[in-house]
Amino acid sequence: MKILVIGQGGREHTLVWKIAQSPLVEKIYCTPSNAGIAQIAETISIGDDYTEIANWAESNKIDLTVVGPEAPLAYGIVDIFNEHNLTVFGPNKNAAQIEGSKDFAKQLMGKNGIPTASHQTFTDADKAIDYIKNIGTSVFVKADGLAAGKGVIPGRTVDDAIEAVKTILVDRAFGDAGDSVVIEEELIGEEASFTVLSDGSYCLPFVSSQDHKMSQDGDTGKNTGGMGAYSPAPVITPDIQEYVMDRIVYPTIQGMSQIGCPFKGVLYVGLMMTEAGPKVLEYNCRFGDPETQVLLPRLKSDLIPILLACIEGTLEQQTDVEWHPEAAACVVMASGGYPDPYQTGKVISGLSNAESIDDVNVFHAGTNFDDENVVTAGGRVLGVTALGENLKNAIETAYKGVSEIHFNDVHYRKDIGYRALSRSENC
Ligand code: AMP
Ligand code: GLY
Repeated sequence: MKILVIGQGGREHTLVWKIAQSPLVEKIYCTPSNAGIAQIAETISIGDDYTEIANWAESNKIDLTVVGPEAPLAYGIVDIFNEHNLTVFGPNKNAAQIEGSKDFAKQLMGKNGIPTASHQTFTDADKAIDYIKNIGTSVFVKADGLAAGKGVIPGRTVDDAIEAVKTILVDRAFGDAGDSVVIEEELIGEEASFTVLSDGSYCLPFVSSQDHKMSQDGDTGKNTGGMGAYSPAPVITPDIQEYVMDRIVYPTIQGMSQIGCPFKGVLYVGLMMTEAGPKVLEYNCRFGDPETQVLLPRLKSDLIPILLACIEGTLEQQTDVEWHPEAAACVVMASGGYPDPYQTGKVISGLSNAESIDDVNVFHAGTNFDDENVVTAGGRVLGVTALGENLKNAIETAYKGVSEIHFNDVHYRKDIGYRALSRSENC
């Protein structure tokens, strides 16, 4: 099979790495790609016009296209590929609203009794501000649309919450994505990422994972795309997994079908484990980044038949999906300054030393080639991932990999997995 992967981050490098292990696959292409992906897949430089990409895929007889990020999915890349009669993995535009509109997601949860934070949606700043003053408690203020992970602003005081409403609705800091705001109560607890594949009716749960969204140790600093991840997440016990499948995942998938938006693809549910049980913080319509970097190394089975089964509606027949028992940890090495502005073009050294450590994979995110060198080209640069007999070992080995890699002004968290480790010394 000839496969095309859309994207250029650590998630897509991991997808390409996993797909390359399939005996069904003869060639992989990727657009826009990065320096790590380019070592296993042919880079296609074609821009981001999705019709052009579909035309290219048609002329090059691509058998399967896998879409990594949310933006092309929300735009409708799957619909465009389907119009070209191409096989493509991911939800269509209607189904991708589950991530593309927070108000859509909240309405879906409301209609289907799915546990989540109470909320109100506003398009009018004055009404939103009155609401905040009335409730007077700590809230989260969210731009309705996609805002590259930046559209969620904590409003822990009334003044902060009012400021957040003004940023989104009045200053329009996120453009059209901020045509409306969702204001919701703050949930207290530990977060976890719950990933399933769905063919529109059946759901296949992945192993659990957890990421670290804040930029600095101890979950301080600014919200980022994710500074590291690990799997399994001990907070997701078998009982909690069953509850999440029954009370959250299946009602979500059934609710989507009932409104004419059957969901085929990856449903990644961001959960808060509150005292009253797990509640949904957000839905994503694609694999998490950096969660993918710890999930796919644990998947023993071939990914390709599973993705095809999602598209064909036969996922229930994939009864022999196997996982490695080892734990996995990923430490993201970022450009100093990220998520604020940062410099790029720094030469990265030590990659092959890190990769030569047993059980270590270095997944590239923002990297590029400059002559002979691999250089930094983004905020999140690398995801150094390791498997280990338990989480403690996986984390230690990932940090061993990190210690081999150097670039100017590097920043990474030193405490990836600290919550899991504090639960049990040998989890
Ligand atoms: P979201 O994109 O909606 O998941 O929000 C990004 C991050 O903001 C989440 O991962 C949480 O850390 C935090 N967050 C969002 N909504 C809430 C909430 N209602 N209560 C507490 N934290 C939240
Ligand atoms: N790790 C967070 C995300 O992928 O949205």
